[in-house]
Amino acid sequence: MTQQFTTPKKDLNWAELGFQYRPTEFRFRALHRNGQWSDGELITDNMISVHEGAPALHYAQQCFEGLKAQTAPDGRVLLFRPELNAERMRQAAERLLMPQVPEALFIRGVEEAVRANYAWIPPHGSGAALYIRPMLIGVGENLGLKTAKEFEFRVFVSPVGPYYKSAGLAVISLAVSDLDRAAPAGTGNYKIGANYAGGLLATRLAQELGANEALFLDARERRYIDEAGSANIVVAMRDGSFVTPGSNAVLPSVTRRSIMTLAEQELGMKIEQRAIDLRKEIDQFEEVAACGTAAVISPVGKIYIDGQWHSFYGEGEQAGPVMQKLYNLLVGIQRGELEDKFGWTHEVKA
Ligand code: PLP
Ligand code: COI
Repeated sequence: MTQQFTTPKKDLNWAELGFQYRPTEFRFRALHRNGQWSDGELITDNMISVHEGAPALHYAQQCFEGLKAQTAPDGRVLLFRPELNAERMRQAAERLLMPQVPEALFIRGVEEAVRANYAWIPPHGSGAALYIRPMLIGVGENLGLKTAKEFEFRVFVSPVGPYYKSAGLAVISLAVSDLDRAAPAGTGNYKIGANYAGGLLATRLAQELGANEALFLDARERRYIDEAGSANIVVAMRDGSFVTPGSNAVLPSVTRRSIMTLAEQELGMKIEQRAIDLRKEIDQFEEVAACGTAAVISPVGKIYIDGQWHSFYGEGEQAGPVMQKLYNLLVGIQRGELEDKFGWTHEVKA
């Protein structure tokens, strides 16, 4: 007989959760010293004590990941394509001269952190999820600009609700930023903290205009869509095609790659990954969405560009049919409600 989780759930108002850090009991930690990873262990301390010279603090030698665990109708605990997060962390580590976290250690760290915090995994039907944040940081004594001698791989988890305020398929707005997120041959395609610190001001400026997030254009020509501050962009065009930017300065989003597959295989749409010239093509956009682990699929109702708002839907309108269908498919698979045709879910066993 398969083992069942028996720990009772926390008494939380799951449906009211926002996207905030909430401490849970356990986190996973492994240390890299003298060229070797420790086995890793569960710990309870949510503080990290690092040397004041740690390269993670001075030179942003760190990377992180984000994924979710969700509860299926039959109680199974499901991750979504965690091997892609492991792969992306290995790529970031290589770019920043950090030791790679082997896939087996990454997946074990995620599974152990999820399993140990079972009580915090939102139940099926609550609309909430357990957000999982793996991170790799350069620690240890250092002053000059060089790679750290020691590294910590840590995985903590926190139950979360929707990233944008309203639940479900929230319609958001984006404001094109005058600031650049990532240089053409820079680090935009890696999930590293350095990309996000520079984006904080852009987000604030976008919010001052009444938008949820900044929308970044390519840094070379300021013409083509790159991505939003914390999500990739997908567009359903009036001609029936489904398009996402071809830029190599954006994060290779697990959500976006999955949505492209669903648009092609399940909705029979012609998919394209190509440069999207925002000013030239905006009138051809039927539906736009921001997508990511935190954002899921958030339809974009309007975009601010060159001093004016460009709306895609009428006042008070909800998502269009393409994004609605993709949301239902994606979330249905992630929550174990729909058949997992593509083998995307990964069960965390008790
Ligand atoms: N783009 C950025 C800048 C992000 O921070 C995220 C979030 O992870 C994404 C895109 C979406 O990526 P994923 O779907 O893998 O979560
Ligand atoms: C995610 O979607 O997992 C992210 O990491 C976005 C983050 C900025 C909250």
